[in-house]
Amino acid sequence: MSVLNHWHPALPSKKLRKKPQSVKICGHEMVLFRDSTGKVASLDDMCAHRRMRLSKGKVIGDQIQCPYHGWTFKSCGAGESPGTPKLHACAPSFETTESQGLIWVRNRGSQSHFPDMPSEPWFLLGTLDHTAPAPLDTTMDNFCEIEHTGTTHAIFGYQLDRMHEVDVKFEWTDDSVTVRNHGPGKPLPWWANQLLMVRKNMLFFDHWTTYFSPCYSIYDHWFEDPATGKKAWVAWKLYIFFTPVDEDNTRVTTLIYGKSDWWILGKDGGLLTFKSLLNSRISHEIDLDVTILGDLADKRPNVDGMKLSRFDRVLGLNRERVARVYYGKPELSTLRSA
Ligand code: FES
Ligand SMILES: [Fe+2]
Repeated sequence: MSVLNHWHPALPSKKLRKKPQSVKICGHEMVLFRDSTGKVASLDDMCAHRRMRLSKGKVIGDQIQCPYHGWTFKSCGAGESPGTPKLHACAPSFETTESQGLIWVRNRGSQSHFPDMPSEPWFLLGTLDHTAPAPLDTTMDNFCEIEHTGTTHAIFGYQLDRMHEVDVKFEWTDDSVTVRNHGPGKPLPWWANQLLMVRKNMLFFDHWTTYFSPCYSIYDHWFEDPATGKKAWVAWKLYIFFTPVDEDNTRVTTLIYGKSDWWILGKDGGLLTFKSLLNSRISHEIDLDVTILGDLADKRPNVDGMKLSRFDRVLGLNRERVARVYYGKPELSTLRSA
């Protein structure tokens, strides 16, 4: 099965205006453009005539025009040559949709499932777009364990000197892996304590489930008093999509959702007022992940020779599903797993 059969987030919607944009998914370059009605289309980013990048061209009406000899292509890929009117060309085209502030693409005719997105009381607070300089498996390794949070992160995660107290559990199905962590969270700045209504003795809970068509994890984060079960007033949920750009880089697309019990501040619990602050803090935490991945001595997905910890069981579980479900190559599982 082609990897492009999965729905992939290709670009934040706001980044595509009049000018066509090039995106790369799993080494496959495609051009995105908006036609005169604003509808998004996607074609191979290579002209059927003499291989010019269509993303260097411009949109005329409902068509994209190649800058080299002026051939034009519709969103379905049908092309015409102004110099040879009887000649008809065809550019491979992709199915597109816009949802959650993102442009998504997949192969035409694919039956893949579109990820289920949260609804009220969850509010979409932002969309972040990062690129990690590491392959898919290696990038997912970082986002699927919390042992690194003690040193790598600013305010997110668990205290390094109490990391041994963090409880971690794993569950899995054929096509998903769930990890549940809770333990003493890092001390938060005063404004975050006030906003989230975090009390002394509350533990930080970080649960997530990873899916593999496409590859993404849904994270639930909240603070809770283990004695009473009482939760802090604000919780958040991240959808993080891991899209291979090529063999060495992985696009990390994050959707941030929040839920707040500050009902006095309105239906959104005041979250929309604080969304810029929340977005910038979460973006900074992901910058830190990207930086640490860039500093790895060896970024290959192979885990041979690694001394893995109790938090790393997820590496093998993820690799098997990345190979089988995402790439459709179960034989890779044995090469990639511990
Ligand atoms: S290469 Fe595109 S029109 Fe010639
Ligand atoms: Fe991290």
